[in-house]
Formats: sequence, structure tokens, C-alpha cells
Amino acid sequence: MTLWGGRFTQKLDDLAWALNSSLPVDQRMAIQDVDGSIAWADAIHKAGILSDEEHASISLGLDTVRKEFASGQFIFLPSDEDIHTAVERRLSELIGPAAGKLHTGRSRNDQVATDFRLWMLQTIPELHSAFRLLHSALIEQAELAGETVMPGYTHLQRAQPILLAHWWLSHFWALKRDVERLQDLTKRVSVLPLGSGALAGAPFSVDRNALAKSLGFAEVSQNSLDAVSDRDFAAEYLFVCSMAAVHLSKLAEQVVLFTTAEFGFFELSDAFSTGSSLMPQKKNPDVFELTRGKAGTLIGLLTGLMSTLKGLPSTYDKDLQEDKAPVFAATDTLLAILPVMAAALRTITVKPERMRGAIDSTMMATDLADYLVAKDVPFREAHSLAGKAVRAAGEAKARMEELPLEAYQAIGPFEADVYQVFDPLESINKRNTVGGTSLQSVKNQISKIKGE
Ligand code: ARG
Repeated sequence: MTLWGGRFTQKLDDLAWALNSSLPVDQRMAIQDVDGSIAWADAIHKAGILSDEEHASISLGLDTVRKEFASGQFIFLPSDEDIHTAVERRLSELIGPAAGKLHTGRSRNDQVATDFRLWMLQTIPELHSAFRLLHSALIEQAELAGETVMPGYTHLQRAQPILLAHWWLSHFWALKRDVERLQDLTKRVSVLPLGSGALAGAPFSVDRNALAKSLGFAEVSQNSLDAVSDRDFAAEYLFVCSMAAVHLSKLAEQVVLFTTAEFGFFELSDAFSTGSSLMPQKKNPDVFELTRGKAGTLIGLLTGLMSTLKGLPSTYDKDLQEDKAPVFAATDTLLAILPVMAAALRTITVKPERMRGAIDSTMMATDLADYLVAKDVPFREAHSLAGKAVRAAGEAKARMEELPLEAYQAIGPFEADVYQVFDPLESINKRNTVGGTSLQSVKNQISKIKGE
């Protein structure tokens, strides 16, 4: 049974049928389809389309269909073109011809957009919880890090010493924005298209606001043409997922780097590492590499949907059927990555001595310039004099703190206290502004995060 046979004399070609059918994808919205249908039955009952008896029978039947889905007992038939057809077909098996009244005033165009939005509204909190797991892992690591120092990098070149805690938290803030974006997106998802019909609106006095309320939508769409074709929320959702994946890949990339023998800052637990079938010594960070790799896949899903949407004539076009698979795939990917990343991050063993050992005293050259600034040397000149000191140490094949005082004094107005500049923790604690790397600033970050 299709929902549209009347004007046709031939049945759809088998291959065309297979291409057209969306059931393998949209059956994931089964519960939402039933819920939307129950609410629609209520609305057209109130509008006088369904008698009390028909309404009761449809509601009861849909309730049974819902239970069948929830318990995994629903049986799809090869003739079910999509989830909407499957639900209506089953309803008619259960209650007979009255089922045929349910679709009055409704189109699969407003129906599918409603199902999809409902599904997303119910999925966002799930994603949110998964993000929270990762947030706590990062905060936990930041708290454990205490006063551990590490080199901070720009251009992946050693730049200035920082606290490891500051580094962990830098990833927290990025991933917190992702959750904020999800929350912000919710208000654009929470707009009810049902009641827009195929494109022009419903011909009965359906109370769309009551409908929205019963389904948990914050508002109703204001233009039926826009409502049946608007997939901004899906594109935006994919952007939010992609942005999060980019953040995760950045974190993953650094974990991969930090676990190399060359860096040796981190060690992964065996539970989150894999071996090589050939090289017995290998311990590979696959979990992190996959996270990095999947960011590419997610960006592909976003650009895929954007390309599908580009240039579509209004209103509903079957191209729009391509909207759900990328959203489902992005969701599954993130829901797979986030808990594993959270667990894997928690088990990382930090090597503070390796991190401290990677801080060489030239990384305090900025502090050396600041030292001169404190002696009233203009920063431009101080920068140049500190640069000369770096060069002198290089030429003498000595560390900055090994260069004799005379050598410093030959360069600029340095005094015996100059050597204090080369303590990384001193350098770190000087960066005490809001958002700086000092111990105090990092403590403040943590209390701000926890207080929220
Ligand atoms: N399977 C379709 C989709 O996902 C449902 C809407 C079908 N509408 C139609 N006019 N054929 O978009």
C-alpha cells in the first residue's frame, strides 16, 4: 500500500521504488511519527474532523503502534515506503477504515519536518550529557595537574611556559561553547511545522498553538512554504557537531603528539591503546587518531547537506529526504567519540619531568625583556636586548642561566637578580590577569566553571 496510488495505472518500478523508499533511514523516527500523529488526531478531533468515536479508536490504535515500536515488536512490510506509511498501514490493520481519516489536512511534508525536529529535540539532551562527561574529564585532569609546568607553543615551536592545567582547561572552554551552541540551536529546532499541509497550510481550524504545546514545541512556524522546506536547523545541527569534532580533533592531535617518544609528555593506558600486528613494541593512540579522522567525516556531512539545500526551489522537494542520514550519522559519531574520549583522557599518565625538561630558558626571553621594562627600558628596545642575550647564549653554547653576568651587562642594564627570570613558575605566575596561566588565574577558572 502506498499513500498515493489513485491517479496511477502502473505500479512504481522496483528499482525506482528502492531508490524512493526512505524507511531504512526514517524508521529511526518511529516514536516521533506516532507521537506527532496522536497530537494531530487530537487537533483534527477538536476541529470537528474526527468524531469522538473515531478519535478514540485512532488514539487507541496509535497507542498500540507506539507500544509495538517501543518493544521492538513492530513488523515492517516490504511495501512500507517510509515510516509514515508504515504507521498508517499498521493503524488501519488495527482499527480498520477509520485510520484513513488520520491524514486529513496533513501532508508527509509537514509531518516529516515535525518528526525530524521532535527527534532532534529529544537527542540534543543526550548529546549534552555526553559532552558533560568530557567536560568533567578535562576538569579532573586540570585539577590533578596542580603546578605541573609545560612548554606552551605557537607555530608548534616552544613559546612560553604554561601550566598543564591551563592547557587542559583551554580544551574545556572550546567544548563548553559547543554545548552552548547546541542549547542556542534548540530554539530554532523548537518550531512546529505541523499544520502547514503540503505547502499552503491546513484547510481546517486546527489550533496549531495547542498542537505545539502538546508536542513540546516552543512556537509554531509562521509561513507554511518556509515551514515544509526549512532545514536550517539540520544544517546548523551539523555545523555544531562539526565544530565540536574540530575541537575534539585538535585535542586528539595534541594527545597523539604528546604520546610520541619525541615529546613523551603523556602515556596512554593500555585500555585505550592498540598494538601492531607486525611490530611488537608498538602502542598506538588509535582512539585519538579516529577522533581526529572522524572530524573530517563530520565536516563532509555538513557540506553534503549544505550542497543538497543550495538552490532548491521552494517548497518541498524530494532532495530534502537526504537531510536525515547525515544528521543521524553525525549524532552516532559524536555519541561514539565523546564517552571514549572522556574515558581515555581520564587514564592518561602525565610525565611532569618530561614537560619540565622541555622548557628551556630561552622560553623566558619575554620575561627577560619584561625585566628590562621594569627598569624603564622601552619594550621595543628591551625586546632587542633580550634577543641579543638569546643569541649570546646560543653562540656560547650555554643555557641562558649559565651566561655570566658580565655577558648580560655587556648587552644592557642587567643586574645580578636577572637569573630569577629563568624560573618557569615565576614566569607563569606573572601572567595573573583574568584568563592568564598563573596558578591563581587557573584556580579562578576552575571555580568559575564549577560555580556555573
Ligand atoms: N520520506 C520523505 C522525506 O524524508 C517524507 C516526505 C515525503 N513527501 C513527499 N511529498 N513525497 O522527506
